Amino acid sequence: MNRLQGQDTFGADTFVSSDHWTSPQRDAAEREKLWPKTWQVVCREERLQGTGSFVTHEILDDPVLVIRTGEGPDDLSAIFNVCQHRGRRLVDRSHGTLGHEIPCRFHGWRYNWQGEVASITNEEDWEGCPAFDKAALSIPQIRVGRWGGFVFVNLDPDAESLESWLAPVAEFLDPFRLQDCRPRFWARIHAPINWKTYIEAFNEGYHVGETHKLGVNYRGNYSPAGAHGPHGVFWAESRGLTEYRVRGSKTWKTSKSVQESLWANMAHQYDTLFALTLDPTMTAADRIKDLPGDTPPEEIMAKFYAYIIEETEKSGASYPPELTMEAWKMAGIDWHIFPNFLILPSPDGALVYRALPDPKDRDKSYVDIWSLGRYPADYKGPEEPSFFENFEVFKGNNPFLEEDFENMEAVNTGMKSRGFRGATYNPIQEKQNAHFQRMLDEYCGKP
Ligand code: FES
Ligand SMILES: [Fe+2]
Repeated sequence: MNRLQGQDTFGADTFVSSDHWTSPQRDAAEREKLWPKTWQVVCREERLQGTGSFVTHEILDDPVLVIRTGEGPDDLSAIFNVCQHRGRRLVDRSHGTLGHEIPCRFHGWRYNWQGEVASITNEEDWEGCPAFDKAALSIPQIRVGRWGGFVFVNLDPDAESLESWLAPVAEFLDPFRLQDCRPRFWARIHAPINWKTYIEAFNEGYHVGETHKLGVNYRGNYSPAGAHGPHGVFWAESRGLTEYRVRGSKTWKTSKSVQESLWANMAHQYDTLFALTLDPTMTAADRIKDLPGDTPPEEIMAKFYAYIIEETEKSGASYPPELTMEAWKMAGIDWHIFPNFLILPSPDGALVYRALPDPKDRDKSYVDIWSLGRYPADYKGPEEPSFFENFEVFKGNNPFLEEDFENMEAVNTGMKSRGFRGATYNPIQEKQNAHFQRMLDEYCGKP
């Protein structure tokens, strides 16, 4: 059995009623029982360079402040970004460097990096107030952890450790050493859809044949999915050779060999997605394209993989020795880390998505997209995301993803109709989404 299959939690119950997306009660339950209880990605760790560097982040109405406190392995502190005097947000900037005392610009109370009160303006005024206890005015600390180059927080002090939460995923993704990767691009879109609509669109491969028609005909793809703890994965089984029209060609061609198919797939990703297939894999695909037509597929794959490693190292980046061809194949295509984080690993790095609800509008969310690659140590990726006010203004930036975005608004509209009873998931190729909904029910109760 394929180890990606995971546990069997879904069974034959493929229907999920539409109120899972549309009910205001469900939104309220998510606010109370989901977001403050699950591990949430704050940022890439390389954003926190040097002692005193910080990043601010919001999980709905909860502002979070993460600070690098030193050089050691446990050198991150996370606190609520809120002054305990009158509740002003403490730090306004998105990132930067802090002095040892963090001043509140309303009345000047000051805190240290652990959130303890360092000084209070006119503290003597409270003399004789029995309820005044400076120690109790510390800003509550937040659980913080890191994995794969991402900094995570959990607002629940009793949450299980990040390590145990991620264990079923880390087993497959650790060999990719995403902590050594850096962003090729980083985009943030204020998406006009509910956060779940976004996650679900990227959480299955069932749509690929019909949705993505730009340069490769994916109709031969089949993408079974599995559940692993609260998380899920899908992988791909290719069923035949690819038809393609890439590199500006207007007409469709049918691949005559595995190597030609592989090349066309890589070229299409490289040219339109700018992720998963970056320079090393593209060059490796160029190198295998013209191998004799009767080369056995295993030999093609072995050469392709060896060339990817060679090209990565030629570029001055290092390739993880633990990322063997077996480990790559074993990892599948797309991992969902419950509830709102997705990682698609590849030899060149990963394509990563995060979706966060807009606290002011349930039909909007903030979605981040990172394309991670392997680069020489002196490479600096973007420090700030490129921000897009909606899908419309994003157009022209990523033809591949734009095909996905076209569905999302239409789904978000259609699912609210009286004419839609609910989703009927494909039990094999959308199992990951069905599992996602089952997990949401576990956290939030049925809507
Ligand atoms: S609200 Fe921060 S010092 Fe008054
Ligand atoms: Fe897609």
